[in-house]
Amino acid sequence: MTGIRSYNRRVLVTGGAGFLGSHLCERLIARGDEVVCVDNYFTGSRRNIAHLLGNPNFETIRHDVTFPLYVEVDQIFNLACPASPVHYQHDPVQTTKTSVHGAINMLGLAKRLNARILQASTSEVYGDPAIHPQPEEYWGNVNPIGPRSCYDEGKRCAETLFFDYHRQHNLPIKVMRIFNTYGPRMHPNDGRVVSNFIMQALKGEPITVYGDGSQTRSFCYVDDLIEGMIRLMDSPAEVTGPINIGNPGEFTMLELAEHVVALTGSRSTIEHRPLPQDDPKQRRPDITKAKSLLEWEPTIPLRDGLERTIHYFRSHFVD
Ligand SMILES: NC(=O)c1ccc[n+]([C@@H]2O[C@H](COP(=O)([O-])OP(=O)(O)OC[C@H]3O[C@@H](n4cnc5c(N)ncnc54)[C@H](O)[C@@H]3O)[C@@H](O)[C@H]2O)c1
Repeated sequence: MTGIRSYNRRVLVTGGAGFLGSHLCERLIARGDEVVCVDNYFTGSRRNIAHLLGNPNFETIRHDVTFPLYVEVDQIFNLACPASPVHYQHDPVQTTKTSVHGAINMLGLAKRLNARILQASTSEVYGDPAIHPQPEEYWGNVNPIGPRSCYDEGKRCAETLFFDYHRQHNLPIKVMRIFNTYGPRMHPNDGRVVSNFIMQALKGEPITVYGDGSQTRSFCYVDDLIEGMIRLMDSPAEVTGPINIGNPGEFTMLELAEHVVALTGSRSTIEHRPLPQDDPKQRRPDITKAKSLLEWEPTIPLRDGLERTIHYFRSHFVD
C-alpha cells in the first residue's frame, strides 16, 4: 500500500466484471476497500456486478486496458483478459494485445503511483507440461505458434514484463499462476469443461468428453481462489511469485462428467469427441509455495463447489 491518505484503500480491479473479477470486487468491498472496476465487457457483464452498483465504495469504468488509464489507486489487480479458449481464440490478436499492452499500461500506472500490482497469470504458461505436478520453477512446454499461443505466450510475456518492471524499477509485484477455477458467474457458453458439463446436464443434452476422458484437471472453487489472491497481494514485499494457486485434487474428465450427472440428477449420456489441438493431458498445481508463504490451501471440496455452481446455473440459465 502506498500514500499517507487516511481514507479507505482504493483498489483497481481490471476485468472486474468477469467471473473472478466480480468475486474479487465483492470481497474487497466487504473488507472496506474502495473498488474501481475497469472492464470493456468483452466477456464480463454488468449482471455480474449488478449487486455492487449502488455501493458508494464501488465505481465502474468502461475501458479497454490496451489503452492507457489514469486513475489514483493504492493497489492494482490485473485480471483483464478473456480466459476461455472460445473467447481468447475469437480475436487472437486482441488477446495478445490485452495481455501485453494491458500489462504495459497497468505496470506504467503502478510505477507512476508506486502501487502494488498483481498479475492474474495462468497455469497455461506451463503449456503441455512434461513434469507433473507443476512447480513454479518449471519453465513450461508451450507451442509459440498454435491456436492457444495468443493466450499462453501473451501471459508469459506479461510475466516477463512484471519481473522486468520489478528488477528495473523496483516495482512491488505479485504474479499468481491460476489453475482451473470454477463457480457461480462463469460464462455459460465459454466452452470450459465445468460450465459445459453443467449446462449440458441441466438441459439433458449429451455430455461431450474430448478424447477418452482420461486427461486430468484440477478444479479450484472460486472462493478459495480469491482468498489466495488476496493473501498474495497482502503478503510481504519479497513474495513476488510466481506462485501457483489452485486445487491439487486431480480428476479425470470422465470422473467430472459422472459427478455432474449425479449432482444434477440428469439423464444425460456421455459422448466422446476428438481431442482439440494442444489440449494438455494433465494439469495439477504444486502448491507447496502457497502453503508455506501464504498459509493458503483450498478448503472447498469439489462436490460442494459443484453443488453451488449447479445451483447458480440452474437459477440463472435454465429455470
Ligand atoms: N478462471 C480460470 O480458471 C482462470 C485460470 C487461469 C487464469 N485466469 C485469469 O484470470 C483472469 C480472469 O479470468 P476469468 O475467468 O474471470 O475470465 P472472464 O472472461 O470472466 O473475465 C475477464 C474479464 O476481462 C475483461 N476484459 C477482456 N479484455 C479486456 C480488455 N482489453 N480491457 C478491459 N477488460 C477486458 C472481460 O470483459 C472480462 O470481464 C484472466 O486474466 C484469466 O487469464 C483465469
